[in-house]
Amino acid sequence: MRILILTHSFNSLTQRLFVELSARGHDVTIEFDINDAVALEAVRLAQPDLVIAPFLKRAIPPAIWRERVCLVVHPGPEGDRGPAALDWAILEGAREWGVTVLQAEEEMDAGPVWASATFPMREATKSSLYRNEVADAAIEAVLRAVEKFPNGERHKPAQTYWKPAMTQQRRAIDWSRDDTATVLRKIRSADGNPGLLDSVLGEPMYLYDAHPAAGLSGEPGRVIARCDGAICRATVDGAVWIGHLRRKLGERPLKLPATMVLGDALRDVPECAGFNTIRYEERNGVGYLHFPFYNGAMSTAQCERLREAYVAATRRDTRVIALMGGPDFWSNGIHLNVIEAAESPADESWRNIVAMDDLCREIITTESQFTIAALHGNAGAGGVFLALAADRVVARDSVVLNPHYKGMGNLYGSEYWTYLLPRRAGSEKAHEVTQARLPVGVREARRLGLIDEHIGGSVTEFRRRVEEFAGQLAANPGFPALLAEKRRRRAADEAAKPLESYRQEELARLKLNFYGFDPSYHVARYNFVNKVPKSRTPLYLARHRGAVHKVAA
Ligand code: COA
Repeated sequence: MRILILTHSFNSLTQRLFVELSARGHDVTIEFDINDAVALEAVRLAQPDLVIAPFLKRAIPPAIWRERVCLVVHPGPEGDRGPAALDWAILEGAREWGVTVLQAEEEMDAGPVWASATFPMREATKSSLYRNEVADAAIEAVLRAVEKFPNGERHKPAQTYWKPAMTQQRRAIDWSRDDTATVLRKIRSADGNPGLLDSVLGEPMYLYDAHPAAGLSGEPGRVIARCDGAICRATVDGAVWIGHLRRKLGERPLKLPATMVLGDALRDVPECAGFNTIRYEERNGVGYLHFPFYNGAMSTAQCERLREAYVAATRRDTRVIALMGGPDFWSNGIHLNVIEAAESPADESWRNIVAMDDLCREIITTESQFTIAALHGNAGAGGVFLALAADRVVARDSVVLNPHYKGMGNLYGSEYWTYLLPRRAGSEKAHEVTQARLPVGVREARRLGLIDEHIGGSVTEFRRRVEEFAGQLAANPGFPALLAEKRRRRAADEAAKPLESYRQEELARLKLNFYGFDPSYHVARYNFVNKVPKSRTPLYLARHRGAVHKVAA
């Protein structure tokens, strides 16, 4: 079928839909919903059998839905209507939630239902639920709807209820009354966007990245400690860590680590342990290194600390190290927000990429252990190539990879990708990867040689299977031979061309991106971190506009 995806942006859910529909042989093209005229033109050019709207911020123009079937993905169960479905579900503590695929009609979210799916709710941020449970349910429901198109049955839900837009007042924290669970629920219902508006040390700020703070307490609302970029605020029955803040006032304030936003204002607040973005554990000869950095972004300091933790892990008496990333993202490369906020973004970009390269080199040159990159969540740009530094790359079935840098203002990229990619994929497929700008699902990633294995199931199931695999590897009588072969291969590669040469060549190109005449990278980064809306759909996505591009399946 020819399918036009009409969407506000190419976000995680849209990327998954694109990957899954393309993999089933559908001819998928994409248009960003910029205005009525552009959307109408896209339909005229694409002549789709079906329009799918996974993520819209406004209604589909009647001239489109009157002529063809438009399926809207609503992140709520059958009957639920309104623009803040997930926010309400989290805030009101729903036990079960769902996704409904309904046909666009005059009244918003009130058209006939084509398919729906439900899932148990988890205590997590809105964006984490959206990227995992909602995305899984949406794929299931959309695929069912597409399968039964054009003659499938549809039905009106027994009853519908409208939930209005969410306001900051509705979820404002009352520090003198709200217990820890309530504070967490309120913040998570607004995380990643727009953030929960509150006041910190007398200044209005949006709060993000909240976690319970075990064993800490104090005067409710007060900032009582800081650790690893986060601040700790007391509640009536304990305390919460808040990892990220965004100022309300000022020119284009960015979401940043809390201690970076507050700076000197925290001088009297004590440092204290308890908020760990890096965690190491060991079982059955395997070391597991977790690094659930917020949004998968890795600043200079985080890369350096992760490298130290990794080096410490290599000194342990283990046979395997599993690099676990976080449950939502494995890594999205260098930290573009921290870079944007720096006095010299060019200098900070440089420092960040050098720290990232140092981490990669440590992994590539590890001789004492076999390494596994275990991708529970998505990876993008440098984060994908960081994963390729490991000896084995294993991904969860629902993972989407963006193995390219070009989208960020034609960034050349580093992370030893010029060594790692051809080494894994061969030169032909490496060329294919570098030419594309599209997301890839796990099947395509395996075909391209980016990953070795993919495993289905939930995050918990994935973890269990990774542990099983890593444990078996560590216990394998053939392990010493495997390690010897790894060392032999590295030595041969080094003799053919030293790692340092790859690094210097990549950094020479990056220097031009950071300090050269062409400002594309700085412009793209500014637009990305400030979420500047796109004014047109890139031609590699809007295939109906004439670009000839291979669809990633
Ligand atoms: N630095 C800082 N923040 C980042 C980031 C990075 N490298 N990558 C992603 N984020 C943030 C986004 O700004 C967004 O923030 P929000 O919570 O305020 O909304 C959040 O992570 C989720 O990203 P989003 O783009 O909404 O997720 P997605 O799943 O739709 O798209 C990517 C994933 C990887 C395609 C996209 O995030 C991206 O292009 N990231 C930049 C990658 C990059 O160029 N890195 C630098 C070169 S190594």
